[in-house]
Order: sequence, then structure tokens, then C-alpha cells
Amino acid sequence: MLLAGKIALITGTNRGIGRAAAELFVENGALVYANARGEGSLADQASDRLIPLYFDVTDAQAAKAAVMRIKKEQGRLDCLVNNAGVMKDALIGMIDAHTVRDIFAVNVFAVMELLQLAARVMKKQNSGSIINLASIVGVNGNAGQLAYSASKGAVVAMTRTAAKELAPFNIRVNAVAPGMIDTDMFRSIGESRVAEQIARIGMRRLGTPAETARTCLYLASDLSAYVTGQIIGVDGGAIV
Ligand SMILES: NC(=O)c1ccc[n+]([C@@H]2O[C@H](COP(=O)([O-])OP(=O)(O)OC[C@H]3O[C@@H](n4cnc5c(N)ncnc54)[C@H](OP(=O)(O)O)[C@@H]3O)[C@@H](O)[C@H]2O)c1
Repeated sequence: MLLAGKIALITGTNRGIGRAAAELFVENGALVYANARGEGSLADQASDRLIPLYFDVTDAQAAKAAVMRIKKEQGRLDCLVNNAGVMKDALIGMIDAHTVRDIFAVNVFAVMELLQLAARVMKKQNSGSIINLASIVGVNGNAGQLAYSASKGAVVAMTRTAAKELAPFNIRVNAVAPGMIDTDMFRSIGESRVAEQIARIGMRRLGTPAETARTCLYLASDLSAYVTGQIIGVDGGAIV
């Protein structure tokens, strides 16, 4: 019960890493406000410990309303997990401005907006943990992922800057940088490329959403009370 009594907001919880994180946080005693953009998509998970919040993270007004609702109902917000993300691959010369805007809207602008909204609440309580889902490619780069890797590089920079600015308020900001995790996002590269990618992982297997969620749990909990500004790889020794 590492998160007993804590209030968390996690984005993109209807599948993948976000879903695993929401389940693990609930198992560990948190009250989770679980975001998804598909109205009703969390019906099977909803409980007195998991409260669905349906909104598109790119809708700044809806994001503000969500954080205000949590503040009103709970009086506090202990943890934000900025998990929702999109990935679209294209080679240099084939990337249109529309695709770049779509990727940055979710992976960067929405993360920055929610980070600010959460920080406002956390500053008043003088505590909090913000966890951003970055990526190994945001640190190392990857052919075919110019826009996506740049968006995750922005998440890395944002995490380090926010950690510095918010540390005096006892708010910790860290990023989890997954390598190749077995979710719809990773599988979207196509089955033919999956084996080739696994060969680039030291441990020769994909990571699971639950393994990624456990690092989020560590960063949300008091086990990491003196950890901030870190980009923690969860990649099984992947070489990108
Ligand atoms: N899987 C990997 O190998 C890997 C590696 C590095 C980093 N990551 C990062 O880890 C995070 C989770 O990835 P994943 O693998 O779990 O991806 P996923 O299976 O594709 O799930 C992405 C989640 O984000 C949600 N989402 C996307 N756009 C949204 C929006 N505008 N508003 C609200 N929710 C939105 C999706 O909702 P819908 O169902 O409505 O689309 C879905 O719940 C992402 O930030 C990703 O970039 C993943």
C-alpha cells in the first residue's frame, strides 16, 4: 500500500501503460482520477477508488475543469501521471506540419498544461509528484521518428526544468523513459518489425505495461522522496 491516502490523476488510462498504472495505483491504496477521451471507455474499471474523467488532453479548458474538480472534491492532488501520448512515424522529407502539430498537441502542449495546473494545486499543499512519460528516443533519437522523438525530447527538458523550479515547493518532477513496451503503440510498427526490434533489446524481450507502471509507482510514492529531475529508463537494456 505504497500510495495509501494519496490522490492521483493519470491520463490515457483506457489501455496500455496508463491502464496498468491506474490499476497498480488503486491496488496500492490511491484514489485515482482516471482520464480517457472515449466517453464510457472506463466503465469496466470504474469503482469507488477509480473515478473516470472523460476529456481529450488537448482540450485545455477540459483539463482545467478536471483539476478543479479534483481540488473541489479532495482538496488536494498528490500525483499527476502525464501518460497519454501518440506516436506517428515518418522519414525525413515525408513529415507534414499537420502530423507534427498533432503529435506536439498531445505529447508536449497538453503535458505542459496539466503540469502547470497540477503545480498550482501542489504548491498550496507544499507537496506533490509529477511523472511524465518520455521515451528512450527522446534521449537517444531514432530513425523514422523525427517528430515523435522531438516531442519526447521536449518532455525530458520540461521535466528537468520543472524539477528545478518546483523543488523549493517540495514538488518532485521525474520522467519515465520506456524502451519497447508491449502495447498497441509499440505493436503499431507492424508485426514484421517486432522481431527485429526485440533483437535490439539486451534482455531480448519487450517490457510489459505493468513493469513500466511499477516505476511510476516508485516515483509517485515516498520511496522516491528525495528523487527529482530524473529520467528513468525502463528498457531492458535496449540499444536505439
Ligand atoms: N509502448 C512503448 O513502447 C512506449 C515507449 C516509449 C514511450 N511510451 C510512452 O508511454 C505512454 C503510454 O504509451 P502506450 O504504449 O501505453 O500507448 P497506447 O497503448 O497507444 O495508449 C496511449 C493512451 O493515450 C491515450 N491518448 C492519446 N491521445 C489522447 C488524448 N488526446 N486525450 C486523452 N488520451 C489520449 C490513448 O487513448 P485512446 O485509446 O483514446 O487513443 C491511450 O489510452 C505514451 O506517452 C508513450 O509515448 C511508450
